[in-house]
Amino acid sequence: MKIVKVLTLFVVTITSLTLNAQVKKMIGADNRMNQFISNLMAKMTLEEKIGQLNLLTPGGGVATGAVVSSDVETKIKAGSVGGLFGVIGVEKIRQAQQLAVNSSRLKIPMIFGSDIIHGYKTTFPIPLGLSCSWDMPMIERSAKIAASEATADGLTWAFSPMVDIARDPRWGRVAEGAGEDPYLGSQISKAMVKGYQGNNLADKNTLMACVKHFALYGAAEAGRDYNTVDMSRVKMYEYYLPPYKAAIDAGAGSIMASFNEIDGIPATANKWLLTDLLRKQWNFKGFVVTDYTGTNEMVEHGLGDLQTVSALALNAGTDMDMVGEGFYSTLKKSLKEGKTTQKQIDEACRRVLEAKYKLGLFDDPFRYCDTTRAKNEVLSADKRQAARAFGEHSCVLLKNNNQTLPLKKSGTVALIGPLANDKSNMLGTWAVSGEAQLSVPVLDGIKNVAGKGLKVLYAKGANITDDTSLAKKVNVFGERASIDSLSPEQLLRQATETANKADVIVAVVGEASEMTGEAASRSDITIPESQRNLLKALAHTGKPLVVVLMSGRPLVLNMENQIATSILQVWFQGHEAGNAIADVLFGNYNPSGKLTMSFPQNVGQIPIYYNHKNTGRPQAEGQTAQKFRSNYLDVSNDPLFPFGYGLSYTQFAYSNLQLDKKTMKPTDKLQVKVHLANTGKYDGEETVQLYIRDIYASVTQPVKKLKAFQKVFLKAGEAKDVTFTLSAEDLKFYNSDLKWVYEPGDFKVFVGGNSRDVQEEAFVLTK
Ligand code: NOJ
Repeated sequence: MKIVKVLTLFVVTITSLTLNAQVKKMIGADNRMNQFISNLMAKMTLEEKIGQLNLLTPGGGVATGAVVSSDVETKIKAGSVGGLFGVIGVEKIRQAQQLAVNSSRLKIPMIFGSDIIHGYKTTFPIPLGLSCSWDMPMIERSAKIAASEATADGLTWAFSPMVDIARDPRWGRVAEGAGEDPYLGSQISKAMVKGYQGNNLADKNTLMACVKHFALYGAAEAGRDYNTVDMSRVKMYEYYLPPYKAAIDAGAGSIMASFNEIDGIPATANKWLLTDLLRKQWNFKGFVVTDYTGTNEMVEHGLGDLQTVSALALNAGTDMDMVGEGFYSTLKKSLKEGKTTQKQIDEACRRVLEAKYKLGLFDDPFRYCDTTRAKNEVLSADKRQAARAFGEHSCVLLKNNNQTLPLKKSGTVALIGPLANDKSNMLGTWAVSGEAQLSVPVLDGIKNVAGKGLKVLYAKGANITDDTSLAKKVNVFGERASIDSLSPEQLLRQATETANKADVIVAVVGEASEMTGEAASRSDITIPESQRNLLKALAHTGKPLVVVLMSGRPLVLNMENQIATSILQVWFQGHEAGNAIADVLFGNYNPSGKLTMSFPQNVGQIPIYYNHKNTGRPQAEGQTAQKFRSNYLDVSNDPLFPFGYGLSYTQFAYSNLQLDKKTMKPTDKLQVKVHLANTGKYDGEETVQLYIRDIYASVTQPVKKLKAFQKVFLKAGEAKDVTFTLSAEDLKFYNSDLKWVYEPGDFKVFVGGNSRDVQEEAFVLTK
């Protein structure tokens, strides 16, 4: 006993000594940084300080607004540029950095940012796809690989992760996020920041993350991009803010203000948001950058002229101004007129310089400009291999009648559809550095994976859309939707003739990649009509019809769900799309993805999400259109495919949900156990999901809240008990005073393979 005590004391002492040493080291490093920056700032003119707050793009990359910067070189030499984005390639970045450190008076290095959203040059599945893996180590690895590749090519700063919770699939930017759930969203947010930033920003292979878009951008009214947001504080705190907070807690170095307003004030000038919440409540130590011309747009929002809105932005807590040069052109005047203060300018400048210091740029402005690294790392084979694995894990099997999938590697397959032999859409939206031509189309992937034993017949079957005006809109960044020289009827005829010769049809259909992403909202979220006609014609042949669905959002799939034998949702997969999809189609990988956004039955149900409130007049289960109940006359309240849903080639059976106690004290742990059996023929991985419901609370609670999940791999025929441990912390919610509290009373716990099909048990939390 004594020995144990002595040992414990020894271990505790050693641990606290090590901790003390670590804390001291950190304080020492902070002091050194502060001293360095104070010395530097003492030499800076007002213009040079304001210059650090100016983020420009010289064009050439993808511009997401009407403006690109001019006279960039002159401004860099004058010390008027804090950073650049949209400059791609290590040589170009080196040249630009040389201008800053050789030709500007104080030789302050610049930071170089980019939209590294799902991989850098090696492109991974879109974030919504990756989120369906529910695989945090894998998601972290995807960010880590992107950081390594991007830093090898000169970049220091990723405009990612995008952590906006979204409940409206009309909004095109759902493709960039992690779906509708705050708990899962927070886990992903944390994993991404860790992946990008690693343990030390100054490491040569880590990037500074920029969490976006702060805040609530995903709640734009009617899913229309850049639209107004209006929401209660309780809703914000409970559902929308957690992923931003998780990223800040994980140490994210920067954050991007969103375009939308909050409480009538655009985020960029919202002092409550950027100072009271972000800095005072959340203790954020990094810097805030606007979105693209976010400052200038406040003129259109109706807040004032450019000088007014620029001062408002700075005073609210914005540090860096993206592209619009409002800070650059007006802050000096505002200072003179007392509309802002030297302190505000100094604070913003210090924060930008701190980021540069932490990135190690003052030690070596060229630390990310190593051409050998670029040669070895950019688009290396191991990265493409990773992309393939990430793709496989992102697929969600929505339907699989008669076990049509996996396909045999023999016989004849008719591969049909405008996305079946396509390279230009494989990367998905926001792949600004990815080269589409390096993608593997599904046709090639199938040949690679199935080998010679399988006969593959191909026909295009339809245009992505026959609507020339829509095609034009989605072709802004290059041709994504072309109109074939054959008429729609001729294409259809070819398709059915091809299908008739095969044992099974694989139809690769969906959206063009730019039908999602920024400024790509849709009011009708079905597959374009040309392809719906194709699917109907194919179904008519009577052959098994496997639909491989590419999209950047949940689509309305009622018709497809009725006529298809199987549906595999593959999102946009990136460079290895064809190989990864073929791996899944032929069973080299058993799909394990689970939806992170609900799929509606029709657009009228939107916003639709699993963690909705019960209301005072809930619809009785299994009922539709009850008078004086909260429902519709023409559709049930249920989604077509719920949050958390996704099939496997094997079957998983849940049974025997058990709690280790029926009442728990706030200091207790509650053990939740469920028996999971793989009852099918294939080895496979299941994501076991745990939800809770607080039955009575001082603020109404949703019918379910995800609180934990585990990925469990079971061999065919294998079974195991899966255990979760809950504490009172998991039962907390934001009350009307915005306090994070639990309230004693009745709770339910649900466990299952999706948010709808669950086992349930009850327990009581006592005082
Ligand atoms: C506008 C987008 O909203 C943002 O996500 C992106 O990082 C910037 N443009 C820069 O490209």
